[in-house]
This record gives sequence, structure tokens and C-alpha cells, in this order.
Amino acid sequence: MNKRLTLWIVCLLACIVPMMATVNIIPKPLNVTEREGTFRLRDGLTIGYNDPSLAPAATYLQEMLSRATGFRIKTAKKGKIQLTLISTPKSSHQEGEFFPSAEEVKESEDYELVSDKTGIRITAASYRGIINGIATLRQLLPNEIESMTKVEGVAWNVPAVSIQDSPNFHWRGLMLDPVRHFYSVEETKKLLDEMALYKLNKFHWHLSDNEGFRMEVKAYPGLTSDTVAWRRFNVHDYRCLDRAGRENNSAMLIPWKYIKEVEGYGELYGGFYTQDEIRDVVAYAAVRGIDIIPEIDMPGHNGAACYCYRWLSCTQDGIEPLCLGRQSTIEFAEKVYDEVFKLFPYEYVSIGGDEVNRGRWSECDECKKRIEEEGLNDVNELQAWFTKRMERYFNAHGRRILGWDEILEGGLSKTATVHWWRGDHPDVTQRSTSMGNEVVLCPFTYLYFDYAQNDSTLRNIYDGDIVPVDLTPEQQKLIKGMQGNIWGESIPTEARMQWMVFPRALALAEKAWTPRSNQEWDDFLPRLQQHLKRLDAMGIQYRPLQTNRP
Ligand code: ACM
Ligand code: ZN
Repeated sequence: MNKRLTLWIVCLLACIVPMMATVNIIPKPLNVTEREGTFRLRDGLTIGYNDPSLAPAATYLQEMLSRATGFRIKTAKKGKIQLTLISTPKSSHQEGEFFPSAEEVKESEDYELVSDKTGIRITAASYRGIINGIATLRQLLPNEIESMTKVEGVAWNVPAVSIQDSPNFHWRGLMLDPVRHFYSVEETKKLLDEMALYKLNKFHWHLSDNEGFRMEVKAYPGLTSDTVAWRRFNVHDYRCLDRAGRENNSAMLIPWKYIKEVEGYGELYGGFYTQDEIRDVVAYAAVRGIDIIPEIDMPGHNGAACYCYRWLSCTQDGIEPLCLGRQSTIEFAEKVYDEVFKLFPYEYVSIGGDEVNRGRWSECDECKKRIEEEGLNDVNELQAWFTKRMERYFNAHGRRILGWDEILEGGLSKTATVHWWRGDHPDVTQRSTSMGNEVVLCPFTYLYFDYAQNDSTLRNIYDGDIVPVDLTPEQQKLIKGMQGNIWGESIPTEARMQWMVFPRALALAEKAWTPRSNQEWDDFLPRLQQHLKRLDAMGIQYRPLQTNRP
């Protein structure tokens, strides 16, 4: 090769490589074609949308883009950024025609994003598809677009691309536990924003447990009273504080804002969400294409409710679980879920159902009577009886029931969905799917984001077979997706939450969106390294990739 040609090739590569590096999307899209050129956002930009249902998406994009750029951005019918909802999707997978068949439209989250120097077009067959396109657009822009304040001196360029994209799983979630430690509405919304950037679309909200009840229930105001939604410092608080001192780590301190002085009790820790606040969070999530799956855990993990309403517990001593022999418990459950159904307009509600101390029921005359009258064999079947009864109630209100994998014990109806969390029970997914039950995967072996991290954790998640490999194709169809769980015991602050969740959530996002055959660690890692800069711009205090901090 002559010298001049070599030089020419080197120059060409030098131009192409940075150009390619601008397209750096997590989760990895199905199909990306990079072209020459860019579209630059400028003051006075208009975002167009062709259907009134897209107005919230257009406003969301407008607000996001104007924050960092400082530009005046309008929304109208037609714009340089155009959001288009198509009602008659084509099934062809040719470029520009990448949409599902009409039957698939309801479920469709697919989108196409085409940008060139004249503008950007995001097209989809559903609101959620448009939202996914917006998440991609956000990632095509410089990292500074994530800034909450105006950033000067940035060329707000979007590279010319054509992207056709579609998720592998429709359930890509995070579960947050504001019971063990409380997170404000603002902190919760911030997590929703972070989820939206990575196309995580299910927010499972664990709203009740032994340590507190976090949802205002009008029928039972005691649940959010000062001594139920607030509590004395417990062993987890002291562990966090001890660690804060040992590590000089302010992220482990218990925030003062969640402590209040209660007469006769001293300083208590806690908080709850009013129904207005819940409606606000639900609306915020909806704009971002995120469903909220509320969990009011029953019949176990009910220390707070039993402490408040002693008649809920077997010997009226305030100790959980709920007594399933008593009719008043069933009425309590129905009235609580009635309010849940009104607040959360989504298909799924979780009954929890995990780690129930069923032994208490064997000592309770009323529970024993229920077992006898219903022809049940044991306390496992008593829980199953309750779950089935509540499932009928959920169904009568147009909802589907979901529960932790213990709901399998004692028998389960085919229509309930199982959260597989016990990673040490690998048979759960096999058993559930062979009975026809759908499963959401969140085994603690991979997806408990409150578990300690080391330098291998991220790669283990990314490379792991989170979908068990022993499933038949029919069983695989029953896997709805996966979620990371953020239990709160050792996460007292938002800063600690970010440290535990990021960057693991990015690995989860790709595991859930991108087909397994397209997941390659060596391809993911450089993209992730770039994304850490985006997380920096968002002010997320993630765990750096190489660190010895536990
Ligand atoms: C659980 O971790 N108890 C679901
Ligand atoms: Zn009982």
C-alpha cells in the first residue's frame, strides 16, 4: 500500500471513529445505521406531534431539552423533531417499516428514530414506543443534556442515524422499598427519571411491611398515624449509623428530614405518602411510560398493621401475620385494596405473600376452623386459599394478581403471576411455567441491588443466565421479564441508593431489552464507561467500576 493511501485511510478512520462513538446507547438497540451529518438543536426549535395523546410526551421532551440548552422550545402539530403515532402499523421489518402487526400494537413498545440534518423523526404505534424513542434521543445528545441547569458552550448535535428498535421483554423493572427506609416523592420521581432514560418501564412500589405502612388508606387512618408510619430506630438504623461513622460515609446517615418528635415516644423515624402524593407520582410515571405496580404485602410482613389494629392478628397481640380465620381480616384486605385499585390504574397489583410465619395459624382456633371449613390440608393451603380469594377480588376489579414465589406453596391459580426472588430455589421458574403461570425474574443471586457489590458483580449480572436455561420454548413465553429489587434496610439515603443501583441498573436494562444473542460484555463495557459520564451529568453517585469500597 502506498504511503499516501495509508495516510488517507488513517485520516478517514480518524474521522469515522469519533463519529461512530457518538452513538452509544444502553440498552443496545436492535438495529442502528449511522449516517453522515448531524442535526443541531437551536433556540426556537419546535417539537411536533400528530396525535393529541402524544401531548404529554411532547411537553416532557420540551422540558427536558430546554433545561440544559436554555432554548425556547415550542410544541405544535409539526416540528423539526416530529413525534408520530401510527395507527396502522406495517408488519414488514424493512428499514422505515419496522412495526408490529396490528394485533401486537397494544403491547408494542417498538419505535423508529431517524435523524438527519433536517430534523428528527420518532415514529411508533404506541405512546410507550414514542417514549422509548425519546429515551434514545436523550442518549444521542451530549451528556450535558442531563444537566438540571443551563450549560453554555455545548454544540447540541444529534448524529444522523436510523434506528429501529424493539424490546425483548415487556417487563423491565425496579422495585423500591420505602418501608425499611423512606424516600420522598422527589427522590422517587428522580428514580423514575433515571429509569426512563434506560427504558425501564415497571416500578414496583413496596408500600407496606413490618416497619411501617406507607400508603394513606382513608378507611384505616391508623395505618399512617404517628406511631405506625413512624417507628423507633431499629437494628438496621444503628447498623447504618455505625457504618456512617466507621467509613466516614454521609450516605449511610439517617436523614433528619424523616425523624419527628412524637409526644410520649421521643424521636421516631418514618413517613408516608398521602393519596394526593401517590396520584402525583403515578401521573409522573405515566408521562414517562412507566407503570407502577403497588405492593401491599399480605398476609405476612404485617407488623405495622397488626400493631395498629390488634384484631388483625391471631391472638390480638399485635404480632403478624394477619389472622386468616377472621372475617374482619378479609374485609380489611378488601377495603385496603379497594383504595389501591383507585390510585393505581394498572393491570397488576402485588399481594406480596412472602416469608409468612404460617406456624402462628396452627395455634389459632379461628385459623384452624377456617382450615377445617374450607377442607384445607395445612397452613400452606390456608395462605393459598387467601391468595385465591384475593385474586378473585382483584379480577372482579379488573386487576391481575402478582406475588413473591412463596405464593406457589399450597397451590396457585394459573392466572397469578410469580415474582421469582429465591435464587436458591432454581426450580421455581420451572414449576411456575410448567403450571402455566407467568413469571417475572428477580432472583437475589443477580438482581437484589441492595446486596453488596464487588468488582465482579456487574459482569456476573451481565453474563448471567438470568432466564433459566432449562425452559422449553413454551415455558420461555411465560417469562414476562425481569426487575432489580432495592430493599431498603441498609439504604438510608438517596445517595446510598444510587451507589447500590448504578451502574447495575444499566446491566439489567440491557439484559431485559436486548436479545441474549446480542449481549456481549466487551461491547457493553465501553458503552457503559461512556454512560458513567452521563450519570455524572445527572449527579448520580454511582459505584465506580474499579473500587474497593464495599
Ligand atoms: C423478599 O425478598 N422477601 C421478597
Ligand atoms: Zn388466626
